Amino acid sequence: MSRNIIITGGAGFIGSHVVRLFVNKYPEYKIINLDKLTYAGNLANLCDVEQKPNYKFVRMDICDYEGVLHLMQEEQVDGIIHLAAESHVDRSIKDPFTFARTNVMGTLALLQAAKTYWDSLPEKYEGKRFYHISTDEVYGALQMDGTLFTEDTKYQPHSPYSAAKASSDHFVRAYHDTYGMPTIVTNCSNNYGPYQFPEKLIPLFINNIRHRRPLPVYGKGQNVRDWLYVEDHARAIDTIFHRGNVAETYNIGGFNEWKNIDIVRLLVATTDRLLGRPEGADEDLITYVTDRAGHDLRYAIDSRKLQRELGWEPSLQFEEGIEKTVRWYLDNQEWLDNVTSGEYEKYYENMYSKR
Ligand code: NAD
Ligand code: DAU
Repeated sequence: MSRNIIITGGAGFIGSHVVRLFVNKYPEYKIINLDKLTYAGNLANLCDVEQKPNYKFVRMDICDYEGVLHLMQEEQVDGIIHLAAESHVDRSIKDPFTFARTNVMGTLALLQAAKTYWDSLPEKYEGKRFYHISTDEVYGALQMDGTLFTEDTKYQPHSPYSAAKASSDHFVRAYHDTYGMPTIVTNCSNNYGPYQFPEKLIPLFINNIRHRRPLPVYGKGQNVRDWLYVEDHARAIDTIFHRGNVAETYNIGGFNEWKNIDIVRLLVATTDRLLGRPEGADEDLITYVTDRAGHDLRYAIDSRKLQRELGWEPSLQFEEGIEKTVRWYLDNQEWLDNVTSGEYEKYYENMYSKR
């Protein structure tokens, strides 16, 4: 069956992997990448697919209800995979309004545009999908006691970022419960891999190790995250978009918990080795700094429902994934330099006018 799908946030880290997977795997689909190109959006992430006939890029703000509605009508969109968001916790602490605007109001604008368009069709919601990508951070923090977040864990967000994501999740579910919209929500753990903006722990630290800059570890480095290779997340999104049940929530995670300080040591050892430096020589770059405000102690996802019902499983061991990731950033120094210097923003600013 042919489909016309909008993927929001497709120029970002996870979105670009999802766009690439869908464009290559489903040549019969039309994939429309709707992205505002904020500081985190970078079309260089997609240079290998931008010429494909089933791919189209539209620069648009998800808060632009009229624009999204018009695009949906024009392209006869029957599926939305919604990843566009402000995604960095530290930024949300400094600028919560931007997070409420994009993550909450933007999601609401998308929902309402989809409702208006799909309501106008004779078949209404039949064959339609509104798939919202969320985070495990909405569940709050776990203690160091082996417990896991399940789909039934109550929402207890702590940061402005996770509060805004939690609010958007509630709106998505409300559109199902109130209007019958065919929605799905997934909550995923920390992703890592190529094309992640180097403000996040793993790419920031790889870049800093390479340039022998300090590695700012928050607090004592004892916080725990559950890490998943980004292509495994993209595969999960593909599986759930096509075979997931409407109105369901699925948790996505790697059963792969690591303390920050242990990851930092692994990054130092791997980067040193790949650069031909004595392994671990750069551990003296580790610098303990003031903790993040409201820093969640531990996240860990129970993704057995997804494994049991839809047969998805993570494919990579963490050490293997980290080696691939470090290698990618070392081989793509130009990408990193462009992103850290802001060069790509200037380039695309001239190429695409805002709609
Ligand atoms: P990212 O910051 O790398 O990319 C976000 C993208 O959204 C960018 O391309 C940006 O230009 C676009 N965008 C931002 N505001 C927009 C707006 N108003 N209109 C249109 N486009 C806009 O984010 P990411 O890390 O790839 O995360 C993608 C999604 O996955 C987010 O919804 C995030 O909450 C969720 N998520 C991320 C992780 C993770 O570890 N990174 C884990 C679980 C869930
Ligand atoms: O759990 C899913 C979430 O994972 C996503 O929803 C978010 O979009 C994504 O950014 C990520 O959030 P985190 O806050 O966990 O990721 P970050 O890479 O910012 O930080 C990972 C851990 O490392 C966290 O405990 C804070 C710590 N850290 C981070 C940075 C940037 C440091 O110690 N030093 C740093 O410089």
